[in-house]
Amino acid sequence: MKTETIISLIETATKARSHAYAPYSHYSVGAAVLCGDGSVFTGCNVENASYPCGICAERTAAAKAVSEGNMDITAVAVTGSTAEICTPCGMCRQFLYEFNEDMDVICSGIDGDFRIYKIKELLPHGFGSSSLG
Ligand code: THU
Repeated sequence: MKTETIISLIETATKARSHAYAPYSHYSVGAAVLCGDGSVFTGCNVENASYPCGICAERTAAAKAVSEGNMDITAVAVTGSTAEICTPCGMCRQFLYEFNEDMDVICSGIDGDFRIYKIKELLPHGFGSSSLG
Protein backbone atom coordinates (compact mmCIF):
# COMPACT_ATOMS: atom_id res chain seq x y z
CA MET A 1 0.00 0.00 0.00
CA LYS A 2 1.13 3.55 -0.69
CA THR A 3 2.18 5.49 2.39
CA GLU A 4 -0.23 8.30 1.49
CA THR A 5 -3.12 5.83 1.37
CA ILE A 6 -2.16 4.47 4.78
CA ILE A 7 -1.90 7.93 6.32
CA SER A 8 -5.18 9.03 4.75
CA LEU A 9 -7.03 5.97 6.09
CA ILE A 10 -5.62 6.53 9.59
CA GLU A 11 -6.73 10.17 9.44
CA THR A 12 -10.20 9.15 8.31
CA ALA A 13 -10.43 6.56 11.09
CA THR A 14 -9.29 9.17 13.60
CA LYS A 15 -12.09 11.52 12.54
CA ALA A 16 -14.59 8.66 12.86
CA ARG A 17 -13.26 7.97 16.36
CA SER A 18 -14.59 11.35 17.47
CA HIS A 19 -18.11 9.98 16.98
CA ALA A 20 -17.53 6.99 19.27
CA TYR A 21 -20.21 6.36 21.86
CA ALA A 22 -18.20 4.79 24.64
CA PRO A 23 -19.64 5.96 27.98
CA TYR A 24 -18.87 2.63 29.68
CA SER A 25 -15.33 1.73 28.60
CA HIS A 26 -14.23 5.30 27.87
CA TYR A 27 -12.17 3.76 25.09
CA SER A 28 -13.00 5.31 21.73
CA VAL A 29 -12.23 3.53 18.47
CA GLY A 30 -12.51 4.66 14.88
CA ALA A 31 -12.23 2.61 11.71
CA ALA A 32 -12.09 3.25 7.98
CA VAL A 33 -12.44 0.51 5.38
CA LEU A 34 -11.10 0.91 1.86
CA CYS A 35 -12.88 -0.90 -0.98
CA GLY A 36 -11.53 -2.03 -4.33
CA ASP A 37 -13.26 0.82 -6.15
CA GLY A 38 -11.60 3.38 -3.87
CA SER A 39 -14.64 4.07 -1.74
CA VAL A 40 -14.13 4.47 2.01
CA PHE A 41 -16.60 3.74 4.82
CA THR A 42 -16.10 4.75 8.41
CA GLY A 43 -17.26 3.44 11.75
CA CYS A 44 -16.84 3.92 15.47
CA ASN A 45 -17.66 1.83 18.50
CA VAL A 46 -21.22 2.20 19.74
CA GLU A 47 -21.72 0.89 23.27
CA ASN A 48 -24.93 0.04 25.06
CA ALA A 49 -26.19 -0.09 28.66
CA SER A 50 -26.67 -3.79 27.98
CA TYR A 51 -22.94 -4.25 27.37
CA PRO A 52 -22.94 -7.16 24.88
CA CYS A 53 -25.23 -5.18 22.57
CA GLY A 54 -22.41 -2.76 21.75
CA ILE A 55 -20.59 -2.93 18.44
CA CYS A 56 -16.96 -2.30 17.54
CA ALA A 57 -15.74 0.34 15.10
CA GLU A 58 -14.47 -2.17 12.53
CA ARG A 59 -17.75 -4.07 12.29
CA THR A 60 -19.69 -0.82 12.06
CA ALA A 61 -17.52 0.31 9.14
CA ALA A 62 -17.52 -3.06 7.34
CA ALA A 63 -21.29 -3.44 7.71
CA LYS A 64 -21.76 0.04 6.26
CA ALA A 65 -19.62 -0.90 3.25
CA VAL A 66 -21.37 -4.22 2.62
CA SER A 67 -24.82 -2.75 3.12
CA GLU A 68 -24.00 -0.16 0.45
CA GLY A 69 -23.01 -2.92 -1.99
CA ASN A 70 -19.24 -2.89 -1.39
CA MET A 71 -18.04 -6.33 -0.35
CA ASP A 72 -14.57 -5.95 -1.86
CA ILE A 73 -12.80 -4.61 1.23
CA THR A 74 -9.06 -4.32 0.59
CA ALA A 75 -7.91 -2.60 3.77
CA VAL A 76 -9.10 -1.34 7.12
CA ALA A 77 -7.52 1.20 9.45
CA VAL A 78 -8.37 1.07 13.14
CA THR A 79 -7.32 3.55 15.77
CA GLY A 80 -7.88 3.54 19.52
CA SER A 81 -7.82 6.38 22.01
CA THR A 82 -4.65 5.41 23.87
CA ALA A 83 -0.98 5.28 22.88
CA GLU A 84 -1.25 1.49 22.65
CA ILE A 85 -1.81 0.37 19.05
CA CYS A 86 -5.36 -0.95 18.71
CA THR A 87 -5.69 -4.36 17.07
CA PRO A 88 -9.13 -5.78 16.19
CA CYS A 89 -10.86 -7.98 18.75
CA GLY A 90 -11.49 -11.62 17.95
CA MET A 91 -15.05 -11.07 16.76
CA CYS A 92 -13.94 -8.30 14.38
CA ARG A 93 -11.12 -10.48 13.00
CA GLN A 94 -13.66 -13.15 12.10
CA PHE A 95 -16.07 -10.58 10.66
CA LEU A 96 -13.41 -8.95 8.45
CA TYR A 97 -11.87 -12.28 7.33
CA GLU A 98 -15.15 -13.09 5.60
CA PHE A 99 -14.67 -10.36 3.00
CA ASN A 100 -11.01 -10.79 2.05
CA GLU A 101 -8.46 -13.09 3.63
CA ASP A 102 -5.68 -10.87 2.19
CA MET A 103 -7.08 -7.68 3.72
CA ASP A 104 -4.52 -5.23 5.10
CA VAL A 105 -5.25 -4.23 8.69
CA ILE A 106 -3.64 -0.94 9.70
CA CYS A 107 -3.54 -0.72 13.49
CA SER A 108 -2.78 2.55 15.23
CA GLY A 109 -3.13 4.56 18.43
CA ILE A 110 -3.31 8.25 19.29
CA ASP A 111 0.39 8.88 18.66
CA GLY A 112 0.13 7.99 14.99
CA ASP A 113 2.35 4.92 15.31
CA PHE A 114 1.02 2.09 13.19
CA ARG A 115 1.57 -1.53 12.27
CA ILE A 116 0.13 -3.33 9.28
CA TYR A 117 -0.95 -6.96 9.37
CA LYS A 118 -2.83 -9.22 6.99
CA ILE A 119 -6.14 -10.32 8.44
CA LYS A 120 -5.07 -13.95 7.86
CA GLU A 121 -2.05 -13.25 10.10
CA LEU A 122 -4.34 -11.98 12.85
CA LEU A 123 -6.68 -14.95 12.40
CA PRO A 124 -4.48 -17.92 11.49
CA HIS A 125 -6.32 -21.00 10.18
CA GLY A 126 -9.48 -18.88 10.09
CA PHE A 127 -12.91 -20.20 9.30
CA GLY A 128 -14.09 -18.64 6.05
CA SER A 129 -16.71 -19.10 3.38
CA SER A 130 -14.66 -21.86 1.68
CA SER A 131 -14.62 -23.82 4.94
CA LEU A 132 -18.28 -24.68 4.45
CA GLY A 133 -17.44 -26.59 1.25
N1 THU B 1 -13.41 -1.95 20.45
C1 THU B 1 -13.49 -1.65 19.12
O1 THU B 1 -14.33 -0.86 18.68
N2 THU B 1 -12.61 -2.27 18.29
C2 THU B 1 -11.62 -3.09 18.70
O2 THU B 1 -10.93 -3.66 17.87
C3 THU B 1 -11.37 -3.29 20.12
C4 THU B 1 -12.48 -2.89 21.01
C5 THU B 1 -14.34 -1.28 21.36
C6 THU B 1 -15.38 -2.18 21.96
C7 THU B 1 -15.72 -1.40 23.21
O3 THU B 1 -16.68 -0.40 22.89
C8 THU B 1 -14.44 -0.71 23.59
O4 THU B 1 -13.63 -0.72 22.44
C9 THU B 1 -13.70 -1.37 24.75
O5 THU B 1 -13.52 -2.72 24.53
